[in-house]
Amino acid sequence: MKRYLVTGGAGFIGSHLVEGLLKRGNCVTIIDDLSTGNWSNIASLESNINFRAIIASADERQLLEREVPKHEFVYHLASAVGVKLIIDHPVETVQRIVRTTDSLVDVCTRYHIPLLLTSTSEVYGKSDRIPFSEDNDITIGATSKRRWAYASAKMLDEFLLLAHHYQTSLPVFIVRLFNTVGPKQTGQYGMVVPRFINAAIKNQPLEIYGDGKQQRCFCSVFDVVEALLKFDSAPQAIGQVINLGSNEEISIQQLAEKIINIVNSKSNLKFIPYEDVYGLDFDDMRRRVPDLTKAEKLLNWKPKTKLNEIIKQIYQNQYRK
Ligand SMILES: NC(=O)c1ccc[n+]([C@@H]2O[C@H](COP(=O)([O-])OP(=O)(O)OC[C@H]3O[C@@H](n4cnc5c(N)ncnc54)[C@H](O)[C@@H]3O)[C@@H](O)[C@H]2O)c1
Repeated sequence: MKRYLVTGGAGFIGSHLVEGLLKRGNCVTIIDDLSTGNWSNIASLESNINFRAIIASADERQLLEREVPKHEFVYHLASAVGVKLIIDHPVETVQRIVRTTDSLVDVCTRYHIPLLLTSTSEVYGKSDRIPFSEDNDITIGATSKRRWAYASAKMLDEFLLLAHHYQTSLPVFIVRLFNTVGPKQTGQYGMVVPRFINAAIKNQPLEIYGDGKQQRCFCSVFDVVEALLKFDSAPQAIGQVINLGSNEEISIQQLAEKIINIVNSKSNLKFIPYEDVYGLDFDDMRRRVPDLTKAEKLLNWKPKTKLNEIIKQIYQNQYRK
């Protein structure tokens, strides 16, 4: 039995990770301020004696000083997330991401506790070197375009962890997650799959932002969690940046059509210009595909679940209980 601390453990990915850790017989503490997470994601774990929830911000130094040393490994998932939230609340986005990581990595360094950070495929910015490989150069949009605040803050997080690793040998792991989907994800902050499934169930139009030809890859949260659980016993991954995601590409229009089909919905498609959703200075990237060579080599991991199966799983788990 090992003791794990998970920041953002009441969130979508965090709550699945916590379930995975507990199932393997470990003790888990989460710290979550419920800013985008939800108590309902972890409510079923409340009676588990190996589970403890602290509802607080993970940037509180005193709390971290008290909690971090009680654990043997820290998963740091707490973050502002979702394009809509980031565009609407850029100050909170940058501060929430950077302050929390800065506080946490300091305390982990003091007690030499291994730390895994969930970064994002957004850091690849406007690159068109497909597939995206971890050591590629990065081109981010102008600072006047607010969406890049998220990528830049996460990049700073990555630099911080790698700097601590370099200077103090703190065992750090950086995971760049590509679009991750599954039960419990909310569409509230702009996530496309739950937004489309919700609309399809209600036979409402599926709102496609832009021309719908932009392509993405969607990975099952269960596959992602399986990979996250491997890091603790993967010394070869210390100090590494590793992509995790699916490389099965689909356009957003095709995704909408697939969801309508699976849900057997009468919905139609409605195209909305980006500027109507995110304002005039919005930038997007056309494709985003991970190079998964490193994940396969260092973790012996590949995504298993096909998109059709993922959508059916979300629909059945979440909406047809
Ligand atoms: N879901 C994806 O497709 C995706 C893609 C790339 C990266 N990520 C990263 O994965 C992680 C988890 O994302 P998610 O999709 O589960 O989002 P989520 O919003 O469901 O989870 C984030 C959690 O962190 C909590 N939180 C935020 N700031 C906090 C703070 N200062 N202190 C304590 N708790 C705080 C929120 O309440 C929430 O529960 C994030 O770091 C995100 O950047 C997710």
